[in-house]
Amino acid sequence: MPIKVNNLSYIYLPKTPNETKALNNVSLEIPNGQITAIVGHTGSGKSTLIQTFNQLIKPSSGFVNIDDKFVVESSKKKNKKIKDLRKYLSIVFQFPEYQLFEETVEKDVAYGLKNFGLKEPEAIIKAHEALKQVGINESFYLRSPFELSGGEKRRVAIAGIIVLDPQIIVLDEPTAGLDPEGSKTILDLILSLKKEGKTIILVTHDMNIVQSYCDNVVVLNKGELVFQGTPSELFSTDVSRFSIEIPPLYAFCQSLKQKGLNLDISKIQSIEDLMSQIKEKR
Ligand SMILES: Nc1ncnc2c1ncn2[C@@H]1O[C@H](COP(=O)(O)OP(=O)(O)OP(=O)(O)O)[C@@H](O)[C@H]1O
Ligand SMILES: [Mg+2]
Repeated sequence: MPIKVNNLSYIYLPKTPNETKALNNVSLEIPNGQITAIVGHTGSGKSTLIQTFNQLIKPSSGFVNIDDKFVVESSKKKNKKIKDLRKYLSIVFQFPEYQLFEETVEKDVAYGLKNFGLKEPEAIIKAHEALKQVGINESFYLRSPFELSGGEKRRVAIAGIIVLDPQIIVLDEPTAGLDPEGSKTILDLILSLKKEGKTIILVTHDMNIVQSYCDNVVVLNKGELVFQGTPSELFSTDVSRFSIEIPPLYAFCQSLKQKGLNLDISKIQSIEDLMSQIKEKR
């Protein structure tokens, strides 16, 4: 079952002079076992949307149904399943500082596991595995998370979520502040999580990531849903109205096509894909 967002609205600071309608009647579906990107101009409501998914904020109206297992709605009633929901769907925040608080990197990553009942030594072993997966080596384990660079903090925050083994992993700008090598480590990790059958939701401003890694893309504009489909469907429309740039690989394939090369751009996610289509045509 997918994630279903139904007529969702969210208002910050309602009935005050600073009232902001961050989401306006958004309805969409996010399929299981795939990578879905959420994109849109700054302030379009991306972070607000994903924070409703595990009830960090409650909708002002409308609801979110998570795989028919959990429902997040505006009701004032307490959601008894909230701990289970947050284990099932976990979010890596846009600002990793919000997520880090322990005195060492390894304790920080182990924290959530201990919260779910694991003993410290086992939790630390699992934390080390997760840190390896995000490319953080042993020399960091006993350092304070607050002394790390922005990119290192982000990777530790990602480790703190994947160690919990959630079914749905939401990452808010996971490659912001990372160098190309650091980005690639995280993106490869995301692909391997997809292979394990996880559902991945990525908020990003990077259209290269959308083209090369994502199966679906959702576009928000001023709190409203303006597009839902595949990356190649998105890039074949007029995206400039949403302040979205066409990724260079897509633009290059399009110009080859205009020059008469019969390409199926919807199947091109990398230079290698392009090369193999060109070889087939020869
Ligand atoms: N805590 C808050 N209090 C009041 N208004 C907020 C708060 N958080 C966000 N907003 C407002 O809600 C709207 C949507 O913000 P949101 O953070 O969801 O956007 P975003 O798409 O994630 O942007 P970015 O790409 O810059 O991260 C913006 O107008 C923003 O100013
Ligand atoms: Mg944001």
